[in-house]
Amino acid sequence: MNNLLKGKKGIIFGALDENSIAWKVALKAKEQGAEFILSNAPVALRLGKINELASSCNAEVIAADATSMEDLKLLFEAATAKFGKLDFILHSIGMSPNVRKNKEYTDLNYDFFLKTLDISALSFHKVLQTAYQLDALNDWSSVLALTYIAAQRTFPGYNDMAEAKATLESIARSFGYHYGKNKKVRVNTISQSPTMTTAGSGVKGFDVFYDYADKLSPLGNASSEACADYCIAMFSDLTKMVTMQNLFHDGGFSSIGMTEAFMND
Ligand SMILES: NC(=O)c1ccc[n+]([C@@H]2O[C@H](COP(=O)([O-])OP(=O)(O)OC[C@H]3O[C@@H](n4cnc5c(N)ncnc54)[C@H](O)[C@@H]3O)[C@@H](O)[C@H]2O)c1
Repeated sequence: MNNLLKGKKGIIFGALDENSIAWKVALKAKEQGAEFILSNAPVALRLGKINELASSCNAEVIAADATSMEDLKLLFEAATAKFGKLDFILHSIGMSPNVRKNKEYTDLNYDFFLKTLDISALSFHKVLQTAYQLDALNDWSSVLALTYIAAQRTFPGYNDMAEAKATLESIARSFGYHYGKNKKVRVNTISQSPTMTTAGSGVKGFDVFYDYADKLSPLGNASSEACADYCIAMFSDLTKMVTMQNLFHDGGFSSIGMTEAFMND
């Protein structure tokens, strides 16, 4: 299908390098006719990779720490000055200092924990609240954040990111109510399979649970390209009545109890 996003404008947060899910979404959004701004934290922009993506998508890059209301306001003001009201936002942001520093779940640093929640969950509320207060989104716009099934089930290595994802999914429901009722904007989370990216492989034992999920999913793990396709579908007008949902994009993993392949192993 072509031109699913023709004429649509948006902001894509979180493309760090070519493995990033947001990177794949940007390429596909461009392919489907969208125009957008790429945003990431100032420190991520210093790596310089995002400029490659920006030139292949003909997109502007604007730095914003997604925990800073000031940065977000400047970003949305710049985006609406350029495009007028927007049609889609991708929040593809996650980081846990406790995971980074190998802190065990039973020995968490609480300053780090607050940072995890701020970067990985509250930032979604901050993005939504900024857009809402500036009235930056058209009717029927679509806002997405990426999440993981550790919000519902325990995966020990996922650490305090589990609490962040549970909060993130709850924010999608709560803000989805207000944004839907008042401005016809839809808000959802996509719960993606384990994926080989910088954020993903930072999780302890990632290789093992990548294989475990792959074996337990009838379709195998969903790739980042497939996730990007799903995001495009959710940004398109073909999914207008979907809101306040946590949408599993995981090859069937979330509904599986046991598989023969897994038992034979
Ligand atoms: N990789 C996986 O296995 C997997 C599975 C399910 C969900 N997810 C989610 O997908 C999203 C994207 O992650 P990814 O796997 O593409 O990894 P990634 O490391 O490529 O992306 C994470 C992004 O978050 C950005 N970021 C961190 N702190 C920020 C801040 N303060 N302000 C703005 N941006 C900031 C990073 O710069 C980076 O671009 C995350 O929410 C992640 O939790 C990933």
